[in-house]
Amino acid sequence: MSSYVTRKTPGDTAWFTRDRFGMFIHWGLYALPARHEWIKNRECIPEEKYQRYFEHFDPDLYDPKEWAKQAREAGMKYAVLTTKHHEGFCLFDSAYTDYKATNTKAGRDLVREFVDAFRAEGLRVGFYYSLIDWHHPHFTIDMLHPRRDDPDAFEQNKGRDIRIYAQYMRDQVRELLTNYGKIDVLWFDFSYPKHHGEGDRAWMRGKGKAEWESEELIALARELQPGIIIDNRAELEQDLWTPEQRQPLEWVRHEKTGELVVWEACQTFSGSWGYHRDETTWKSPEMLIRMLVNTVSCGGNLLMNVGPTARGYFDHRAEAALKVYADWMKYNSRSIYNCTMAEPEFEAPIDCRLTQPVDDEKRLYVHLLAYPFRFLILPKMAGKVRYAQFLHDASELLFEDMENGDLRIQLPPIKPDMIVPVVELFLE
Ligand code: GLC
Repeated sequence: MSSYVTRKTPGDTAWFTRDRFGMFIHWGLYALPARHEWIKNRECIPEEKYQRYFEHFDPDLYDPKEWAKQAREAGMKYAVLTTKHHEGFCLFDSAYTDYKATNTKAGRDLVREFVDAFRAEGLRVGFYYSLIDWHHPHFTIDMLHPRRDDPDAFEQNKGRDIRIYAQYMRDQVRELLTNYGKIDVLWFDFSYPKHHGEGDRAWMRGKGKAEWESEELIALARELQPGIIIDNRAELEQDLWTPEQRQPLEWVRHEKTGELVVWEACQTFSGSWGYHRDETTWKSPEMLIRMLVNTVSCGGNLLMNVGPTARGYFDHRAEAALKVYADWMKYNSRSIYNCTMAEPEFEAPIDCRLTQPVDDEKRLYVHLLAYPFRFLILPKMAGKVRYAQFLHDASELLFEDMENGDLRIQLPPIKPDMIVPVVELFLE
């Protein structure tokens, strides 16, 4: 058994750390401008102008069964969908707003179809729910709000009562955790308690657990779905630490106690969470696989994001990225699922990452991020390996114990046709 002990979590994280790999899906009206999900903030778009996206939202090619199939084939075991992002538009049929998919040309509850389709493919489902809401009339104007530069922002803010908005969030979270069956993950986003205005905008205060009334919100979620996993972005510690758009190189620890924690890195295929037509920083196939391997080798989960188009499908770039995962996971998922950071006694060779099954200390996986010439040297492993093979084709790899205590594995001079070849070691 793995010797690593993580800080106790309120939710059921056993399946989560076993499954390791999930799909994030950022979908909303922002798919129409197709230039980042923060477009309303970045271009300070007024309601009346943003309304055209509501009027033209017509995802006629939306087929969540196809989404779910691609997620499963990519090796993803769970999926988290934005039920509402910062723009305030709801993909679900909420009784508390008219700003929802059922009132657009879509004319239906898109979340319902998402949960049905992904469950049918055997994936667990999670909801992302934005704490930020640039549409709600009681969400007070602050330094992130699209109205922040309006000369009359102070006047506009009069009459806005954040407590009414906090109640709205509780009402919607109740709908989401009551009407759609078992929900495995609740992903709030995000708090900025110290992000205040200055000078004549000093009245624009940041928002955190006090404004969200996070204690009540989370208590409600846990009352409705007791085992649910909740992230840490409502400014209250819960189950998940959520490093974003960066690659931790060691197991994430609790900032105060130093304990190992359950953590999930979330990343985009390109530079945008929402569909971005003209964004070109798409990650290479090597980067995609290395991210997954790096994350699991440090005891974490990876949540990779897709931004569907406003027609409702994954564009060719996203499909190609998912195919990279599908091709690699088909042969190498044994080194990812139910695996974690290798025991401390094992030292990773240069340009390699190690993973080990949580429940089998006689197995070790060596991921070759760079392919060595002819030999792979495993430090201090002489006498510890019974058998070695490439994981992808189970072809034997011959090895010898070295006098200095290392183990030397012979590798074919030509790298196998595998983005990151994995050596599977059966230990004495
Ligand atoms: C950041 C972005 C937000 C995105 C989230 C995903 O908070 O601002 O748009 O949904 O990251 O983790």
